[in-house]
Amino acid sequence: MPISQFDGALAVVTGAGSGFGRATTLALAERGAQVVAADIDLDSAERTAVLAKSLGADVVPYRVDVADATAMEAFAAEVRSAHRVPDIVVNNAGIAVAGPFLDTGLKDWERIVGVNLWGVIHGSRLFGKQMADRVANLPNKPDKPNKGGHIVNIASAAGFAPSRELPAYCTTKAAVVMLSECLRAELAASRIGVTAVCPGFAGTNIAKNATYVGLSDEEQERQRERGDRAIKARRYPPEKVAERIVDAIAKNRPLVPINFEGHLLHALSRVSPASLRLLARIPAPLR
Ligand SMILES: NC(=O)c1ccc[n+]([C@@H]2O[C@H](COP(=O)([O-])OP(=O)(O)OC[C@H]3O[C@@H](n4cnc5c(N)ncnc54)[C@H](O)[C@@H]3O)[C@@H](O)[C@H]2O)c1
Repeated sequence: MPISQFDGALAVVTGAGSGFGRATTLALAERGAQVVAADIDLDSAERTAVLAKSLGADVVPYRVDVADATAMEAFAAEVRSAHRVPDIVVNNAGIAVAGPFLDTGLKDWERIVGVNLWGVIHGSRLFGKQMADRVANLPNKPDKPNKGGHIVNIASAAGFAPSRELPAYCTTKAAVVMLSECLRAELAASRIGVTAVCPGFAGTNIAKNATYVGLSDEEQERQRERGDRAIKARRYPPEKVAERIVDAIAKNRPLVPINFEGHLLHALSRVSPASLRLLARIPAPLR
């Protein structure tokens, strides 16, 4: 059952201190949802809450590292006891590691898989269980079915477009797309919708905070600036992504490519995988 009513809903958004997470938090809060805004950087989550307050919205900041299984268990338990079972969960927190596979060390892999994949697994598993239990434990009235919920996982167009420049990032995002599809099939019986969101480039801090493997510190700093300029020059604001996320929840969409390159790469992955294999050899704009 799609969540068409945001008024009075409880939402959890991870990575809520910046970019898509902040914009989605504000978009949901503006529509009347109470939002738990979680980020590893508590100051940034608090700034999101202050922005929401200026709109008269209700946003509660939390600090959590989505890659930390124990911290996520404590976080999910705290959300439930301090608030209730959430109606919407947006597993958005993510990082970028760019550069060749052979330069990507074990620690780089552990970091990116920890945040981009384990973070989504923890959020989906812990809050998905709460939502499914809520449906199972409440008596169902055929005229007024119990609330299920909705889980949004932020993947990327990189989830279906291979790149020699982003092997670790593409791998985690492809896994998030598949996890979301499997989860959607499983949770449908509990009236819980699952969406994988796959944007192309959008103007956030992701490139500024990226790790560029195989480079010296100075070269890496230059790449961060270059990547940040390229991504901002794309002029696609996070607020537009947030609007699509809200729409995807309301319409219970399975997979949502966003912006021109998001749609193009998605279409090519279906009609011409060979062209994507050629594109994969071209240096990406982030580098
Ligand atoms: N910006 C783009 O072009 C783009 C495109 C496709 C997908 N994405 C995805 O969108 C999501 C949001 O990224 P963004 O572009 O808004 O970047 P961003 O850097 O602006 O925001 C990411 C937020 O996640 C938080 N975060 C990082 N690690 C965390 C952790 N371990 N635990 C909790 N919070 C953590 C950061 O503190 C930050 O506030 C990511 O999953 C990213 O991969 C971004």
